[in-house]
Amino acid sequence: MRVNGRPHRTIWPSSDGVSVEIIDQTRLPHEFAVARLATVGEAAHAIKAMLVRGAPLIGATAAYGLWLALRVDPSDRGLAEAGVALMATRPTAINLRWAVERMTAWVAPLPPGKRAAEALARAAELCDEDVAINRAIGAAGLKVIQAIAAGKRPGAPVNILTHCNAGWLATVDVGTATAPIYAAHDSGIRVHVWVDETRPRNQGASLTAWELLNHGVPHSVIVDNAGGHLMQHGHVDMVIVGTDRTTATGDVCNKIGTYLKALAAKDNGVPFYVAAPSPSIDWRVRDGVKEIPIENRSAHEVTHLAGRLPDGSVVTVGVTPEGSPAANPAFDVTPARLVTGLITERGIAEASERSLLSLFPEKSQLVFNP
Ligand code: MRU
Repeated sequence: MRVNGRPHRTIWPSSDGVSVEIIDQTRLPHEFAVARLATVGEAAHAIKAMLVRGAPLIGATAAYGLWLALRVDPSDRGLAEAGVALMATRPTAINLRWAVERMTAWVAPLPPGKRAAEALARAAELCDEDVAINRAIGAAGLKVIQAIAAGKRPGAPVNILTHCNAGWLATVDVGTATAPIYAAHDSGIRVHVWVDETRPRNQGASLTAWELLNHGVPHSVIVDNAGGHLMQHGHVDMVIVGTDRTTATGDVCNKIGTYLKALAAKDNGVPFYVAAPSPSIDWRVRDGVKEIPIENRSAHEVTHLAGRLPDGSVVTVGVTPEGSPAANPAFDVTPARLVTGLITERGIAEASERSLLSLFPEKSQLVFNP
């Protein structure tokens, strides 16, 4: 992706050789700021406080976090404690566990003196893999958009609704849900994106809109409640969202509000696609509603909003009566029956165990095996 014309990733090893740098997403869209993480504690904080967010990027940050930990303490205990600290940051996105388990399996067999260097190389490898996966998702999803475009009046845009930010800011680069959108736009198909603002943290309004703007993709930010109305009036050709955890049976856990969009899509015959990279699939879970832990975040995210004043300063204001309690479940689960297709790096699967395993047969021994 390009920011102000320059190619960028969301995370990269710093030139000082002892830290990693990230885009601080809490400052967007008002300011493009880079933050430096030099310790595993800083990496854990960046994930928990959402300087980095989005399932794949959380995984990538945890991978570099393990490297930062091993630089200081490469012992078995140091490795285990760092893994526990990182995994405790955010409970829902499975990529976190995926990255920590994978990194641990790579470095644990090595003598302590060799672990840090290996962890650094492997974290970089994991990031490159994320980008390759997302490009493949883009290619697979492009075919769906092409088919929809072919059925429309020549020159009419394909209207795509997306929720939260499953774009390049949620990954190392390219994005998952946005990958087919960018691929379609770049190949000359007219697309227009309905961007759900995605309360309470507004990842759609502040992050997805920002990156679509940077890439020149036509879009409109809408309030979260507008999607159903737009679908009823034929203004949405398809929905594409990301996922924090998809079960082996095809249930999709994603940002709160995704389920309501899937219900509205079903009622209006709008195809509902999920961009699902394989590291986001939890092969050990059968029933997403019952088994996936849903992160409950601070009520402050609901009762307050941040925004920019005309003088350029960014302030946080209260929007509820003082004393009104608030609840903030951060994710919900869309049952497989509402999902038209899972766009993976190996092609499009139906939201079912049979179809997913036909694309990933090597995972069959993991299925429902805690
Ligand atoms: O709470 P967030 O901002 O980390 O939630 C992000 C989402 O729900 C994304 O849709 C999901 O992580 C998929 S990102 C490719």
